[in-house]
Amino acid sequence: MNHLPPRVTLLDVGPRDGLQNEREPVSTEVKVELVHRLQAAGCREIEVTSYVSPKWVPQMADNHAVMRAITRAPGVRYSVLTPNLKGLEAALADRPDEIVVFGAASEAFSRRNINCSIDESIERFRPVVAAALAAGVRVRCAISCALGCPYQGEVSADEVEHVVRLMKGIGVQHCGIADTIGVGTPAKVQAAMERALKYFPAAELSGHFHDTYGQALTNIYACLELGIHRFDASVAGLGGCPYAKGATGNVATEDVLFMLNGLGIETGIDLDALVDTAGWISAQLGRPPVSRVARALLAKRAAA
Ligand code: HMG
Ligand code: MG
Repeated sequence: MNHLPPRVTLLDVGPRDGLQNEREPVSTEVKVELVHRLQAAGCREIEVTSYVSPKWVPQMADNHAVMRAITRAPGVRYSVLTPNLKGLEAALADRPDEIVVFGAASEAFSRRNINCSIDESIERFRPVVAAALAAGVRVRCAISCALGCPYQGEVSADEVEHVVRLMKGIGVQHCGIADTIGVGTPAKVQAAMERALKYFPAAELSGHFHDTYGQALTNIYACLELGIHRFDASVAGLGGCPYAKGATGNVATEDVLFMLNGLGIETGIDLDALVDTAGWISAQLGRPPVSRVARALLAKRAAA
């Protein structure tokens, strides 16, 4: 296994991607406690909230309250989504460590999610990126529907490369390749990642896999084979995008962690504490965790 990276960074997107799709309002207190539990479990990168229109995503309307209530732990990077200058200005008041501009490899999804074409989105992001960098805040991008689109269908590696190049051109520092609807399979994922590696080094490239078709772990392994060592995941497998029909949760952080632990790859995250968090947040939402690892380990504990 020594061709695989010795260490992987997992960015938990549970508080943002995980909760944004919940129909019932989740209280600010629960969101804040989720962040606290994740950092106590050893997560060093947490996507906390988004500064988007509350008409589009009501669940994230308490962005200021959440960001102001969290007790920051040293060494943890807190990121937030900002689709435009209005979002960035609102976010900067709350001192995030990193902002995320989110575009798409498919025109149809760009329009549905952020109400503009790909080219318009890049022009919208350009001043956002410049202002964030000027404020000393790191800039990451997410490229949705890089492996398939609920409206367009197939998405080619050429389309992915096109947007990656545009993101690099406006000064984005880190590129996230997102399989929004979880249809990617390993060879396709590697093809998309190889294109992205032309513009971003492995250390500034990450995979964001929704697990709708059960392919996420395999796809992460396919990325590890390319030396990619940063992945987004969501505790308890929470998540989904309100503008991607049929998209279910992100790959569960504890499922990824179980695989990485088995491979002897370090993450700094404690599996037991993460499983506790998965059980806790799922109970708050009134359902069992969807992740296989959380279910298995919670059942084992209950039996012991
Ligand atoms: P728009 O309607 O084209 O924007 O929406 P607008 O500039 O015309 O403004 C319309 C209204 O929104 C105005 O308010 C603005 O003030 C307000 P009104 O005058 O009607 O009262 N507004 C805002 N309010 C708060 N914060 C803002 C903001 N901007 C405008 N930043 C917009 C464009 C981008 C705002 C909208 O389409 C939007 O909010 N989209 C967000 C969609 C979203 O959050 N999707 C989920 C996150 S992405 C995701 O999950 C994918 C990812 O996980 C990767 C993957 O899996 O693919 C990252
Ligand atoms: Mg997502």
